[in-house]
Amino acid sequence: MNIEWDKLGFEFMPTRSNIRFSYKDGKWSEGKLYSSNEITISIAANCIHYGQAAFDGLKAFCCKDGKVRLFRPKENARRLNSTIDYLMMPHFPEEKFVAAVKTVVKDNIDYVPPYGTGGSLYIRPVIFGTSPQIGVAPATEYELIIMVMPVGPYYKGGIKPVRAMIHDKVDRAAPQGTGHVKAAANYAAGLYPTSLALKGDCSIMLFLDSKTHQLIEEFGTSNFFGVTPDGKYVTPKSSSILPSITNKSLMQLAGDLSIPVEHRDVYKTELETFAEVGACGTAVVITPISEIIHHDKVYKYGRKNIGPVSRKLYDKMTGIQYGEIADEHNWMMEVL
Ligand SMILES: Cc1ncc(COP(=O)(O)O)c(C=O)c1O
Repeated sequence: MNIEWDKLGFEFMPTRSNIRFSYKDGKWSEGKLYSSNEITISIAANCIHYGQAAFDGLKAFCCKDGKVRLFRPKENARRLNSTIDYLMMPHFPEEKFVAAVKTVVKDNIDYVPPYGTGGSLYIRPVIFGTSPQIGVAPATEYELIIMVMPVGPYYKGGIKPVRAMIHDKVDRAAPQGTGHVKAAANYAAGLYPTSLALKGDCSIMLFLDSKTHQLIEEFGTSNFFGVTPDGKYVTPKSSSILPSITNKSLMQLAGDLSIPVEHRDVYKTELETFAEVGACGTAVVITPISEIIHHDKVYKYGRKNIGPVSRKLYDKMTGIQYGEIADEHNWMMEVL
């Protein structure tokens, strides 16, 4: 094993093991660690044809005291189950989820990037229907796999600002559809829109609400926040965006730092007024947005670096995750 920790991006890397559970005859099996990264499923598995598949994502950090800790794993267990409910899959008990995450992280402990490298161990649970069937219906059998891999920044350049695009001809989530859950299909549907962003030299697509195109929803990979010139943290409230655990945590930290928080409808006209804009999520942490391109309009946040309010929040969040400052809300859970 020879990993250049400071050169890590956000890519798949095989590690020692993944943990797997099978659902059959109405119950989940015990977890088993596998060293193989391969699976064999029926050509008629429901997940391939009808996309009954979902995932989640969380991280483990090597902290300043040398201990490895998870960031809010119960929140991910809850969100995974809310996705599971919507996609008609079988519930996976929260305690079983947290125990499984701990087991697989422990087994791969030497893949957790050391403290000081800026990396983390990304934990990716995935669940999918495996029973062979050709009619559209929920599967009767499932597989839940939790894989882990060391990662660095999602967008090249760490917390350097990236450009975002809004495009009037593409949408992400229907108002009463699947935007609020982590259905795999949401991400397949985002590939073409994201290709438009990439063609326009932007890293990320910012989606408006599909019904009126007047409200800001979220980025393809993360939630949206803006900072007003008088220093308020503003983030969209919508039933068709993913409830980000990072955003929820940032709202709490903003409150702790006496930064006023507005969680409400955010109009695209407000893009003119923000002093800072950021994308937030487990993978992207806080990624500042330098410009938003909306056809012939360009909203400039014109920063070479992260803005001051985003920076404060970034430092507080990563300080807690790496055990450098007090974890007042008990968000971190020790693994080893
Ligand atoms: C569409 C979308 N929104 C928001 C997020 C951020 O959620 P969280 O902070 O829980 O990672 C993610 C990724 O995790 C995402 O894929």
